[in-house]
Amino acid sequence: MNTLILGIESSCDDTSAAVLLNNKILSNVTAGQAIHEQYGGVVPELASRAHQENIVPVVVAAFKQANVTVADIQAIAYTQGPGLMGSLVVGTSFAKAFALARNIPLIPVNHMKAHILAHFIEDANPQAPTFPFLCLTVSGGHTQIVKVNSAFDMEIIGKTIDDAAGEAFDKIAKMLGLPYPGGPLVDKLAKEGDENKFKFAKPRIPALDFSFSGLKTSVLYFLQKMEKENPNFRTEEVKDLCASIQKTIVDILIEKIELAVKQTGIKQVALAGGVSANSGLRERLQDLGQKKSWKIYIPPLSYCTDNAAMIAITGKMLWEEGKIGSQADSASARLEW
Ligand code: KG4
Ligand code: ZN
Repeated sequence: MNTLILGIESSCDDTSAAVLLNNKILSNVTAGQAIHEQYGGVVPELASRAHQENIVPVVVAAFKQANVTVADIQAIAYTQGPGLMGSLVVGTSFAKAFALARNIPLIPVNHMKAHILAHFIEDANPQAPTFPFLCLTVSGGHTQIVKVNSAFDMEIIGKTIDDAAGEAFDKIAKMLGLPYPGGPLVDKLAKEGDENKFKFAKPRIPALDFSFSGLKTSVLYFLQKMEKENPNFRTEEVKDLCASIQKTIVDILIEKIELAVKQTGIKQVALAGGVSANSGLRERLQDLGQKKSWKIYIPPLSYCTDNAAMIAITGKMLWEEGKIGSQADSASARLEW
């Protein structure tokens, strides 16, 4: 039997809707929110308002692109959490109303698990990963190494003890005078810079955990010191700074992934979350995989940053297991793993 599912994502500052036919994405439409740029970070109240404005047009666009109508949709999956409450409520309310009006199953999805399960979308990888695999999940709010035993048995074996990797990119980018979100811009500027120009100390955190707040502070002190000699240091050296900072963040991530493979013996490594869009990280992991004969899974950019396609595929997998929700479910900013 063919299944047609609508996925809805609204956990942070992207409003996204996707139509999934079996494991194939027919459309994956996302409206970003430029409004936050001028504030240097996501303003929750403004995000919530923008979701309200965007949700219906985004869904309509997703239907149009997929060439389906409201009546064709057999189930709706939505991000229940974790995320910003005011943002989550918009997607959750839309999904509940849609399910009620159409009398179809309503499937709550964990955003972080969905980042991982995006790997099972038909065109995410030439071949889907097999279990167990390791997933480095790196986003604006999370940095985790997850041992994925099955679609519904995922174990966090390492995590950040302070800032997330994306947060580090964004906060350091802000220090360099770059607009929010800084991650993609650091990546772009790094391509033209010398990654060995400046050296930043790496944290010594035991086992598989991460820390990024020390790097943020050492970059700040370094900039302050250099600006005493050259007040234009930040702007003049921005490319080499971006390249060197990106290299340090990628070094920290790669070091722990190597350790995770060593500890678990699992040689299949996947990337997930917004920071997996980073070209430096993608390249380094591919190279390392080739050198060590690991299997590496890196989805296309559209399935890395926040998107509804990952919500739809996770919803489908949950539905197949009979794990559906009800109108009694509510959005949860700190949804449990
Ligand atoms: O997963 P995501 O879209 O949203 C969250 O759930 O947080 O991740 C967003 C994060 C932001 O911190 C953004 O700066 C970062 O991913 N990001 C990048 C790149 N593209 C997005 N960081 C580094 N390089 C990139 N190319
Ligand atoms: Zn995310």
